[in-house]
Amino acid sequence: MTAAVVTGGGSGIGQGIVERLRADGLQVAILDLVPPADDKLAYTADVSRPDQIDAAMSEIRAALGPVTVLVNAAGMEKYRRFKNLSFEEWQRIIDVNLHGVFHMTQAVLPDMLEAGWGRIVNISSSSTHSGQPFMSAYVAAKSGLNGFTKSLALELGPSGITVNAIPPGFIDTPMLRRSEEKQLLGGTIADHVQRTPVRRVGRPADIAATCAFLISEDAGYITGQIIGVNGGRNT
Ligand SMILES: NC(=O)c1ccc[n+]([C@@H]2O[C@H](COP(=O)([O-])OP(=O)(O)OC[C@H]3O[C@@H](n4cnc5c(N)ncnc54)[C@H](O)[C@@H]3O)[C@@H](O)[C@H]2O)c1
Repeated sequence: MTAAVVTGGGSGIGQGIVERLRADGLQVAILDLVPPADDKLAYTADVSRPDQIDAAMSEIRAALGPVTVLVNAAGMEKYRRFKNLSFEEWQRIIDVNLHGVFHMTQAVLPDMLEAGWGRIVNISSSSTHSGQPFMSAYVAAKSGLNGFTKSLALELGPSGITVNAIPPGFIDTPMLRRSEEKQLLGGTIADHVQRTPVRRVGRPADIAATCAFLISEDAGYITGQIIGVNGGRNT
């Protein structure tokens, strides 16, 4: 049975991806800073810490064998006017959203190369289409992730490994609700629905469905792509 790791699988989009991939018959381990307590395949690690990733990956490989599917969904946002943004805050956002993907990919890639098959899906952000005020560090990190996705796809294609990114837009998760509560969205979620062509907020299941497709054999000819899932908010 195919073994997968989903970072950030303890909440929101990552959690939706875990549920969908399990329903599709994959064995899925969650790697998260705050993993769900009641999940037998949930492991605690900070994606910016290679030592913690290595410890978690040893346990995951002991439980599931080689891992040939990696979904990088862990992420954190930071709203701060650039002139007030400290280098430490900038660095933490880059560490989690971009360096975390570097560390995870390095940790899992040997299994994929050995198998001659693999799937990597990176969850970036629709803010990379448009830019976003007060989120310069986050948008820089997520734009880097899109570029990384394209380059890695070219390197790994000959090894049977595809690499794609999904930049979600406006998905109803704890992250989005926190931003709404702090009045950081420029209106409520309901206001934004009126500006969204399909007239609803996105759901983790929308991202999970796209992710499941990108992991499937049917998507073997799709690599290096940035597949927007945003209700038509960005085209
Ligand atoms: N919700 C949206 O509308 C939206 C839009 C664009 C991009 N995204 C991206 O989608 C991904 C999931 O976001 P979400 O809305 O589900 O957020 P969320 O806050 O609900 O979930 C994020 C998960 O990542 C985990 N995490 C955070 N930092 C971590 C770290 N250092 N190491 C390991 N795990 C860590 C958290 O514990 C949490 O379980 C993120 O990468 C986010 O940037 C979300």
